[in-house]
Amino acid sequence: MNTKTDVDYLFEPRGVAVIGASQNSAKIGYRIVENIVQRGYKGQIYPINPKGGEVLGLKIYPDLSAVEGDVDIAVITIPARLVFDAVKECAAKHVKHLVIITSGFSEVGNVEEERQIVAYAREHGMRVLGPNIFGIYSSAASLDATFGPGGILPGRVAIITQSGALGIAMIGKTAAESLGLSALVSIGNKADIDESDVLEYLARDEATTVIFMYIEGVKHGNRLVGMLKQVTKKKHVIVVKSGRSKRGAMAAASHTGSLAGADEIFDSIMRQCGVLRAESVQEAFNWAHFLADAPLPKGKESVIITNGGGIGVLATDACEKYGVDLYDNQAVLKETFAPVMPSFGSSKNPIDVTGQATAEDYERSLEAMLDNAGMHAAIALYCETALFNTDALGDLLRVEYARYKEKKPIIFSLFGGEKLETIVRTLRAKGVPVFSDVYDGVSCLGALYRSWQHLNAPEEKPEDIPIDVAAVEEILDRARKEKRGFLLANEAQQMAQVLGLSMPRSIVARNLDEAVHAAGEIGYPVVMKVVSKDIIHKSDAGGVALNLENQNEVIDAYQAIMRSCRAYKKDALIEGIEVVEMAKPGVETIIGARQDASFGPIVMFGLGGIYVEVMKDVAFRAAPITKREAHAMVSDIRSYPLLLGVRGEKRKEIDGIVDVAMKLGALIDKCRDITDVEINPLVVYEHGQGVKAVDVRILFQTTREVR
Ligand code: ACO
Repeated sequence: MNTKTDVDYLFEPRGVAVIGASQNSAKIGYRIVENIVQRGYKGQIYPINPKGGEVLGLKIYPDLSAVEGDVDIAVITIPARLVFDAVKECAAKHVKHLVIITSGFSEVGNVEEERQIVAYAREHGMRVLGPNIFGIYSSAASLDATFGPGGILPGRVAIITQSGALGIAMIGKTAAESLGLSALVSIGNKADIDESDVLEYLARDEATTVIFMYIEGVKHGNRLVGMLKQVTKKKHVIVVKSGRSKRGAMAAASHTGSLAGADEIFDSIMRQCGVLRAESVQEAFNWAHFLADAPLPKGKESVIITNGGGIGVLATDACEKYGVDLYDNQAVLKETFAPVMPSFGSSKNPIDVTGQATAEDYERSLEAMLDNAGMHAAIALYCETALFNTDALGDLLRVEYARYKEKKPIIFSLFGGEKLETIVRTLRAKGVPVFSDVYDGVSCLGALYRSWQHLNAPEEKPEDIPIDVAAVEEILDRARKEKRGFLLANEAQQMAQVLGLSMPRSIVARNLDEAVHAAGEIGYPVVMKVVSKDIIHKSDAGGVALNLENQNEVIDAYQAIMRSCRAYKKDALIEGIEVVEMAKPGVETIIGARQDASFGPIVMFGLGGIYVEVMKDVAFRAAPITKREAHAMVSDIRSYPLLLGVRGEKRKEIDGIVDVAMKLGALIDKCRDITDVEINPLVVYEHGQGVKAVDVRILFQTTREVR
């Protein structure tokens, strides 16, 4: 029985046709055939061109119908206007995957033809990679169906790239850096196959241990999140996303026609999925190279060995920056290193064997550390000195690395003149993780530890938070009858009740007497707010009065609100005035949820006021969220220490925030016609005293979404 899934044929095809195969070596259609041949593809190659003839010793077929064997992939490299007809021929031949190299589709506004091609292909059981791509490489089939420079080294890193030109350049770069690849997939316009489809295969591919994605925009983020969460439980995943800056995001949007979502959202959600986000392609390459070979650490404590104090301090700073913990048992450090290092050195971590150390001193110290099972990762630094015979250094590091590389993660950083630079280049070409800059090396170790923590985190099943969807929709439907896409105060109260959110007590008064009576019943101080479907921004209309201490203030405020609102909008229908319990002061936070254009339902949290508006100190997660994810979102914000309690203050009710976040996540996930929910402020009290949703705003579609 054939157990291969659809996407498997893309990476392990039995036969590959090249439609537009050319005898002209300047053409892409020639280059692709040449790469397939040179790489030593294991299956059948079928060059297709109506002119017939031969290319690189292979017979050229006039069309697909002349081919007898199975064709799992058709690489299409003919002008855009001819592509659809070729796709129809592929359907007749029962091709499984179309790899459409051709440009000139949605990326230049030709959206409709691209859509039609994909629809036709899917109807006929075919999947489409591209269009607007440079092809695919798969080490499983020894297949290089790209028009890149060739010479891809086999290895454990898989690359998925949205940018073609960058991807082709990466081929050369991987060869220059001796980085071996298990796969390289150009996804271009992502008209059908996207990152998630490719990840689905790579997750199962034993040859792949590291996946590096270059992304410009996310289209089906909800699915991507689900897929990434699974993959990062087995492999390291690195992402570089361009479009961080506002101008960059605009450039990316016009480049691929895809949505470049807000960078903060992308960043938060990648963290949620356990994906390592690199700043640059070079950083991603460094990480990929290191992670492909490094063993997983057995613990968190690293040791720095150096022959120079300054570089040791720099490495210590880098460890703090990248979250690498340093071994700190001073007694053990002394016991381990004092016998093997010069007496004037320091056995505190960093272990400083000093500039007077010989190669033998350095080697003995390095081995003492590598042999100690309690020291989990090694950072070995070297500054060029006169006493140390640098000629021997390259061999020393290569031998030590070969001996210990399976046992614990090791990085080296060498700083000095031309001789050292040559050693760095030579060792790197042999796969030894050596860096000129100590920050580059420690950054790799930090990436390994972040990924390791995620791999080690216990599996958490998402909790099903019950939401009474019928009750929610009933409230929304009442507003919809008035063609309203937002809730009035009393409706927001009802919604809070359905969700089980604690709100300040409130009563809607229809006249002054009722307002005075309501204030008495609730207890002073109170807040008063106008209730009118014609006044959305209550404060702007003078429709809010805070901190009313007694009956007289309530009477004055009632009259003032009525006067201001009438002046603001003469014909506004005022249904009443809401008298609300004045919430006790606490830490004001904002918590919300919405349907994001890239990721679908997401949840957001931040501290209120300037923290959100000026500092943009917010965190996001893709919904629905687990308890641990909700906790991580809350602790992600920079002002988190304020919730833990500073200057003798007590810890705040963080569990209460987590509870609200999970409820909003479930609501926005289950009720997709709700577009925005915002609780501002959610006042957070001391631990044990709960949280209060002071103002709940909900926006929704005025017509119900049929799901
Ligand atoms: N079946 C088979 N072969 C055909 C057919 C057909 N139905 N119709 C035409 N051909 C042949 C042509 O006769 C020609 O062969 P020849 O060299 O023997 O004459 C060959 O197919 C190619 O057709 P051309 O018209 O010569 O097209 P050309 O090779 O110039 O361009 C291409 C085709 C490369 C697909 C071009 O249209 C294109 O899209 N280029 C951009 C590709 C690209 O950059 N993709 C994104 C990559 S990523 C990045 O940004 C780098």
